[in-house]
Amino acid sequence: MSDTNFAAVEELLQNHRAKTEARVDMLLPENGRLSDSVVHAARHSLLDAGKRIRPLLLVEFYKLCGGEDECAYHFAAALEMIHTYSLIHDDLPCMDDDDMRRGKPSCHKQFGEATAVLAGDGLLTEAFGVAAKTVGLPVERILRAMGVLSSCAGISGMVGGQIIDLESENKQVQIETVTEMYRLKTGALIRAAATIGCILAGADEDLIEAASTYGEKMGLAFQVIDDILDFESTDGVLGKPVGSDEKNHKNTYVSLLGLEESRNIATQLTNEAITILERFSGDTNAIADLTKYLLSRNR
Ligand code: IPE
Ligand code: IPE
Ligand code: MG
Ligand code: MG
Ligand code: MG
Repeated sequence: MSDTNFAAVEELLQNHRAKTEARVDMLLPENGRLSDSVVHAARHSLLDAGKRIRPLLLVEFYKLCGGEDECAYHFAAALEMIHTYSLIHDDLPCMDDDDMRRGKPSCHKQFGEATAVLAGDGLLTEAFGVAAKTVGLPVERILRAMGVLSSCAGISGMVGGQIIDLESENKQVQIETVTEMYRLKTGALIRAAATIGCILAGADEDLIEAASTYGEKMGLAFQVIDDILDFESTDGVLGKPVGSDEKNHKNTYVSLLGLEESRNIATQLTNEAITILERFSGDTNAIADLTKYLLSRNR
Protein backbone atom coordinates (compact mmCIF):
# COMPACT_ATOMS: atom_id res chain seq x y z
CA MET A 1 0.00 0.00 0.00
CA SER A 2 3.04 2.26 0.13
CA ASP A 3 2.47 3.44 -3.45
CA THR A 4 -0.85 5.10 -2.58
CA ASN A 5 -0.90 8.82 -3.16
CA PHE A 6 -2.44 9.95 0.12
CA ALA A 7 -1.74 13.63 -0.60
CA ALA A 8 -3.93 13.35 -3.71
CA VAL A 9 -6.67 11.64 -1.65
CA GLU A 10 -6.57 14.45 0.89
CA GLU A 11 -6.86 17.02 -1.90
CA LEU A 12 -9.80 15.10 -3.36
CA LEU A 13 -11.50 14.95 0.04
CA GLN A 14 -10.92 18.67 0.57
CA ASN A 15 -12.38 19.44 -2.86
CA HIS A 16 -15.49 17.34 -2.21
CA ARG A 17 -15.85 18.78 1.28
CA ALA A 18 -15.94 22.32 -0.13
CA LYS A 19 -18.42 21.43 -2.87
CA THR A 20 -20.75 19.47 -0.58
CA GLU A 21 -20.73 22.23 2.03
CA ALA A 22 -21.40 24.96 -0.52
CA ARG A 23 -24.34 22.97 -1.88
CA VAL A 24 -25.77 22.19 1.56
CA ASP A 25 -25.27 25.80 2.66
CA MET A 26 -27.31 26.92 -0.34
CA LEU A 27 -30.02 24.25 0.11
CA LEU A 28 -30.58 24.75 3.82
CA PRO A 29 -30.43 28.50 4.50
CA GLU A 30 -31.45 30.29 7.67
CA ASN A 31 -33.73 32.99 6.40
CA GLY A 32 -35.52 34.62 9.29
CA ARG A 33 -38.37 32.14 9.77
CA LEU A 34 -39.75 31.45 13.25
CA SER A 35 -38.68 27.84 12.70
CA ASP A 36 -35.05 28.74 12.05
CA SER A 37 -33.81 27.22 15.33
CA VAL A 38 -34.20 23.75 13.83
CA VAL A 39 -32.30 24.85 10.71
CA HIS A 40 -29.62 26.33 12.95
CA ALA A 41 -29.27 23.00 14.80
CA ALA A 42 -29.15 21.03 11.52
CA ARG A 43 -26.48 23.37 10.14
CA HIS A 44 -24.44 23.02 13.35
CA SER A 45 -24.19 19.27 12.76
CA LEU A 46 -23.91 19.40 8.99
CA LEU A 47 -21.38 22.13 8.27
CA ASP A 48 -17.68 22.63 9.05
CA ALA A 49 -16.58 19.06 9.61
CA GLY A 50 -17.18 15.53 8.44
CA LYS A 51 -15.05 13.65 5.95
CA ARG A 52 -17.78 13.69 3.26
CA ILE A 53 -16.80 10.28 1.99
CA ARG A 54 -20.34 9.36 0.91
CA PRO A 55 -20.76 12.40 -1.39
CA LEU A 56 -17.26 11.80 -2.68
CA LEU A 57 -18.01 8.18 -3.54
CA LEU A 58 -21.30 9.08 -5.19
CA VAL A 59 -19.70 11.69 -7.44
CA GLU A 60 -16.61 9.59 -8.21
CA PHE A 61 -18.70 6.55 -9.24
CA TYR A 62 -20.87 8.90 -11.30
CA LYS A 63 -17.79 10.22 -13.11
CA LEU A 64 -16.36 6.71 -13.47
CA CYS A 65 -19.53 5.67 -15.33
CA GLY A 66 -19.37 8.62 -17.69
CA GLY A 67 -21.24 11.36 -15.79
CA GLU A 68 -19.87 14.63 -17.06
CA ASP A 69 -21.37 17.50 -15.16
CA GLU A 70 -22.22 18.71 -11.71
CA CYS A 71 -25.75 17.23 -11.65
CA ALA A 72 -24.78 14.59 -9.10
CA TYR A 73 -23.93 17.12 -6.40
CA HIS A 74 -27.57 17.64 -5.46
CA PHE A 75 -27.90 13.94 -4.76
CA ALA A 76 -24.55 13.91 -2.97
CA ALA A 77 -25.77 16.70 -0.68
CA ALA A 78 -29.00 14.76 -0.01
CA LEU A 79 -27.00 11.68 0.99
CA GLU A 80 -24.81 13.72 3.35
CA MET A 81 -27.95 15.22 4.91
CA ILE A 82 -29.28 11.72 5.60
CA HIS A 83 -25.93 10.58 6.99
CA THR A 84 -25.83 13.65 9.27
CA TYR A 85 -29.34 12.95 10.53
CA SER A 86 -28.20 9.41 11.39
CA LEU A 87 -25.31 10.85 13.42
CA ILE A 88 -27.54 13.34 15.30
CA HIS A 89 -29.91 10.57 16.32
CA ASP A 90 -27.07 8.09 17.01
CA ASP A 91 -25.65 10.51 19.63
CA LEU A 92 -28.93 11.01 21.51
CA PRO A 93 -29.10 9.87 25.17
CA CYS A 94 -31.56 7.12 24.17
CA MET A 95 -29.03 5.76 21.68
CA ASP A 96 -25.24 6.07 22.16
CA ASP A 97 -25.43 9.09 24.49
CA ASP A 98 -22.35 10.82 23.13
CA ASP A 99 -21.57 14.47 23.82
CA MET A 100 -19.22 15.29 20.97
CA ARG A 101 -19.52 14.95 17.20
CA ARG A 102 -17.31 16.25 14.43
CA GLY A 103 -15.20 18.12 16.97
CA LYS A 104 -18.15 20.08 18.40
CA PRO A 105 -20.83 19.47 21.04
CA SER A 106 -23.28 16.96 19.60
CA CYS A 107 -26.59 18.40 18.46
CA HIS A 108 -28.61 17.58 21.60
CA LYS A 109 -25.82 18.91 23.85
CA GLN A 110 -25.93 22.25 22.08
CA PHE A 111 -29.65 22.61 21.38
CA GLY A 112 -31.49 20.12 23.60
CA GLU A 113 -32.95 16.73 22.79
CA ALA A 114 -36.23 17.80 21.22
CA THR A 115 -34.54 20.21 18.81
CA ALA A 116 -31.94 17.55 17.93
CA VAL A 117 -34.67 14.99 17.15
CA LEU A 118 -36.41 17.54 14.93
CA ALA A 119 -33.16 18.63 13.27
CA GLY A 120 -32.61 14.97 12.33
CA ASP A 121 -36.20 14.57 11.13
CA GLY A 122 -35.86 17.78 9.14
CA LEU A 123 -32.65 16.70 7.44
CA LEU A 124 -34.05 13.28 6.53
CA THR A 125 -37.21 14.73 5.03
CA GLU A 126 -35.60 17.67 3.25
CA ALA A 127 -33.04 15.31 1.72
CA PHE A 128 -35.67 13.68 -0.47
CA GLY A 129 -36.83 17.10 -1.64
CA VAL A 130 -33.26 18.01 -2.51
CA ALA A 131 -32.76 14.76 -4.43
CA ALA A 132 -36.05 15.29 -6.27
CA LYS A 133 -34.83 18.69 -7.46
CA THR A 134 -31.88 17.17 -9.34
CA VAL A 135 -31.85 18.72 -12.80
CA GLY A 136 -30.23 17.74 -16.07
CA LEU A 137 -30.67 13.97 -15.71
CA PRO A 138 -33.41 11.61 -16.96
CA VAL A 139 -36.27 11.42 -14.48
CA GLU A 140 -36.27 7.57 -14.45
CA ARG A 141 -32.70 7.59 -13.15
CA ILE A 142 -33.57 10.12 -10.44
CA LEU A 143 -36.59 8.08 -9.34
CA ARG A 144 -34.63 4.84 -9.20
CA ALA A 145 -31.84 6.55 -7.24
CA MET A 146 -34.39 7.95 -4.78
CA GLY A 147 -35.75 4.44 -4.25
CA VAL A 148 -32.22 3.19 -3.48
CA LEU A 149 -31.69 6.10 -1.09
CA SER A 150 -34.92 5.26 0.72
CA SER A 151 -34.25 1.54 1.04
CA CYS A 152 -30.62 2.03 2.11
CA ALA A 153 -31.56 4.64 4.73
CA GLY A 154 -34.69 2.90 6.00
CA ILE A 155 -35.77 -0.23 7.82
CA SER A 156 -33.97 -2.61 5.47
CA GLY A 157 -30.90 -0.34 5.61
CA MET A 158 -29.34 2.04 8.14
CA VAL A 159 -32.34 2.17 10.51
CA GLY A 160 -32.50 -1.63 10.53
CA GLY A 161 -28.80 -1.81 11.46
CA GLN A 162 -29.20 0.71 14.24
CA ILE A 163 -31.96 -1.30 15.90
CA ILE A 164 -29.82 -4.47 15.77
CA ASP A 165 -27.00 -2.42 17.33
CA LEU A 166 -29.20 -1.17 20.17
CA GLU A 167 -30.88 -4.51 20.82
CA SER A 168 -27.49 -6.24 20.99
CA GLU A 169 -26.22 -4.02 23.82
CA ASN A 170 -25.45 -5.76 27.11
CA LYS A 171 -25.55 -9.24 25.66
CA GLN A 172 -23.11 -11.44 23.78
CA VAL A 173 -24.11 -12.01 20.15
CA GLN A 174 -22.51 -14.03 17.36
CA ILE A 175 -20.10 -12.39 14.93
CA GLU A 176 -22.65 -13.03 12.14
CA THR A 177 -25.09 -10.72 13.93
CA VAL A 178 -22.43 -8.02 14.20
CA THR A 179 -21.62 -8.39 10.50
CA GLU A 180 -25.28 -8.00 9.57
CA MET A 181 -25.54 -4.97 11.87
CA TYR A 182 -22.52 -3.34 10.13
CA ARG A 183 -23.80 -4.24 6.69
CA LEU A 184 -26.94 -2.30 7.45
CA LYS A 185 -26.09 0.53 9.85
CA THR A 186 -22.96 1.63 7.97
CA GLY A 187 -22.68 -0.41 4.79
CA ALA A 188 -26.10 0.53 3.44
CA LEU A 189 -25.44 4.27 3.03
CA ILE A 190 -21.99 3.58 1.57
CA ARG A 191 -23.54 1.10 -0.87
CA ALA A 192 -26.13 3.77 -1.68
CA ALA A 193 -23.36 6.25 -2.52
CA ALA A 194 -21.60 3.92 -4.96
CA THR A 195 -24.73 2.55 -6.66
CA ILE A 196 -26.53 5.88 -6.94
CA GLY A 197 -23.48 7.35 -8.67
CA CYS A 198 -23.71 4.57 -11.27
CA ILE A 199 -27.50 4.80 -11.60
CA LEU A 200 -27.44 8.57 -12.16
CA ALA A 201 -24.79 8.13 -14.86
CA GLY A 202 -26.94 5.53 -16.64
CA ALA A 203 -24.48 2.65 -16.10
CA ASP A 204 -25.23 -0.95 -17.13
CA GLU A 205 -26.75 -3.30 -14.56
CA ASP A 206 -23.53 -5.31 -14.13
CA LEU A 207 -21.67 -2.14 -13.13
CA ILE A 208 -24.42 -1.10 -10.71
CA GLU A 209 -24.08 -4.57 -9.18
CA ALA A 210 -20.28 -4.23 -9.01
CA ALA A 211 -20.64 -0.86 -7.25
CA SER A 212 -23.02 -2.47 -4.77
CA THR A 213 -20.52 -5.24 -4.00
CA TYR A 214 -17.75 -2.66 -3.65
CA GLY A 215 -19.93 -0.68 -1.21
CA GLU A 216 -20.74 -3.81 0.75
CA LYS A 217 -17.06 -4.69 1.33
CA MET A 218 -15.84 -1.15 1.81
CA GLY A 219 -18.71 -0.34 4.18
CA LEU A 220 -17.86 -3.31 6.41
CA ALA A 221 -14.18 -2.35 6.45
CA PHE A 222 -15.17 1.24 7.28
CA GLN A 223 -17.17 0.19 10.37
CA VAL A 224 -14.45 -2.21 11.56
CA ILE A 225 -11.95 0.69 11.42
CA ASP A 226 -14.49 2.91 13.23
CA ASP A 227 -14.53 0.31 16.03
CA ILE A 228 -10.73 0.18 16.14
CA LEU A 229 -10.52 3.98 16.34
CA ASP A 230 -13.16 3.97 19.11
CA PHE A 231 -10.76 1.73 21.00
CA GLU A 232 -7.38 3.28 20.34
CA SER A 233 -7.72 6.91 19.19
CA THR A 234 -8.26 10.07 21.25
CA ASP A 235 -11.29 12.39 21.43
CA GLY A 236 -9.25 15.29 20.07
CA VAL A 237 -8.13 13.45 16.95
CA LEU A 238 -11.38 11.57 16.35
CA GLY A 239 -13.73 14.52 17.01
CA LYS A 240 -16.10 12.19 18.92
CA PRO A 241 -15.73 10.40 22.25
CA VAL A 242 -13.52 7.30 22.22
CA GLY A 243 -14.61 4.37 24.37
CA SER A 244 -18.25 4.88 23.40
CA ASP A 245 -18.66 1.22 22.41
CA GLU A 246 -17.25 -0.09 25.69
CA LYS A 247 -19.33 2.40 27.69
CA ASN A 248 -22.50 1.12 25.99
CA HIS A 249 -21.50 -2.58 26.15
CA LYS A 250 -21.69 -2.84 22.37
CA ASN A 251 -20.84 -5.93 20.38
CA THR A 252 -18.13 -5.03 17.88
CA TYR A 253 -15.49 -6.82 15.84
CA VAL A 254 -12.95 -5.48 18.36
CA SER A 255 -14.86 -6.80 21.39
CA LEU A 256 -15.48 -10.19 19.78
CA LEU A 257 -12.30 -10.80 17.79
CA GLY A 258 -9.67 -8.42 19.18
CA LEU A 259 -7.72 -5.62 17.54
CA GLU A 260 -5.32 -7.64 15.43
CA GLU A 261 -7.89 -9.89 13.79
CA SER A 262 -10.21 -6.92 13.25
CA ARG A 263 -7.44 -5.05 11.47
CA ASN A 264 -6.65 -8.10 9.33
CA ILE A 265 -10.30 -8.42 8.34
CA ALA A 266 -10.54 -4.72 7.46
CA THR A 267 -7.41 -5.06 5.29
CA GLN A 268 -8.81 -8.14 3.57
CA LEU A 269 -12.17 -6.44 2.88
CA THR A 270 -10.36 -3.34 1.57
CA ASN A 271 -8.34 -5.45 -0.85
CA GLU A 272 -11.48 -7.26 -2.02
CA ALA A 273 -13.27 -3.94 -2.56
CA ILE A 274 -10.38 -2.62 -4.65
CA THR A 275 -10.30 -5.82 -6.74
CA ILE A 276 -13.98 -5.33 -7.62
CA LEU A 277 -13.09 -1.97 -9.18
CA GLU A 278 -11.34 -3.91 -11.99
CA ARG A 279 -14.80 -4.54 -13.46
CA PHE A 280 -14.97 -0.87 -14.47
CA SER A 281 -13.19 0.13 -17.65
CA GLY A 282 -12.49 3.74 -16.60
CA ASP A 283 -9.81 5.13 -14.31
CA THR A 284 -10.52 3.79 -10.80
CA ASN A 285 -7.33 5.11 -9.17
CA ALA A 286 -9.06 7.86 -7.19
CA ILE A 287 -11.58 5.44 -5.65
CA ALA A 288 -8.93 2.76 -5.04
CA ASP A 289 -6.62 5.28 -3.32
CA LEU A 290 -9.51 6.58 -1.19
CA THR A 291 -10.37 3.00 -0.18
CA LYS A 292 -6.78 2.37 0.97
CA TYR A 293 -6.62 5.74 2.68
CA LEU A 294 -9.72 4.96 4.74
CA LEU A 295 -8.05 1.81 6.07
CA SER A 296 -5.24 3.85 7.63
CA ARG A 297 -7.29 6.93 8.57
CA ASN A 298 -7.00 8.33 12.05
CA ARG A 299 -10.48 9.88 12.24
C1 IPE B 1 -19.41 7.87 11.24
O1 IPE B 1 -19.27 8.08 9.87
C2 IPE B 1 -20.49 6.87 11.49
C3 IPE B 1 -20.25 5.58 10.88
C4 IPE B 1 -21.06 5.09 10.02
C5 IPE B 1 -19.08 4.80 11.25
P1 IPE B 1 -18.07 8.94 9.31
O2 IPE B 1 -16.77 8.41 9.88
O3 IPE B 1 -18.15 9.03 7.84
O4 IPE B 1 -18.34 10.36 9.98
P2 IPE B 1 -18.08 11.81 9.41
O5 IPE B 1 -19.13 12.06 8.38
O6 IPE B 1 -16.69 11.88 8.84
O7 IPE B 1 -18.25 12.70 10.61
C1 IPE C 1 -23.25 4.28 13.93
O1 IPE C 1 -22.16 3.51 14.35
C2 IPE C 1 -23.51 4.27 12.53
C3 IPE C 1 -24.65 5.16 12.20
C4 IPE C 1 -25.61 4.72 11.47
C5 IPE C 1 -24.69 6.54 12.67
P1 IPE C 1 -21.41 4.15 15.57
O2 IPE C 1 -22.34 4.46 16.68
O3 IPE C 1 -20.19 3.36 15.90
O4 IPE C 1 -20.92 5.54 14.91
P2 IPE C 1 -20.09 6.63 15.70
O5 IPE C 1 -18.83 5.98 16.19
O6 IPE C 1 -20.95 7.12 16.82
O7 IPE C 1 -19.80 7.67 14.66
MG1 MG D 1 -24.24 3.82 17.30
MG1 MG E 1 -22.31 6.19 17.97
MG1 MG F 1 -18.31 4.10 16.39
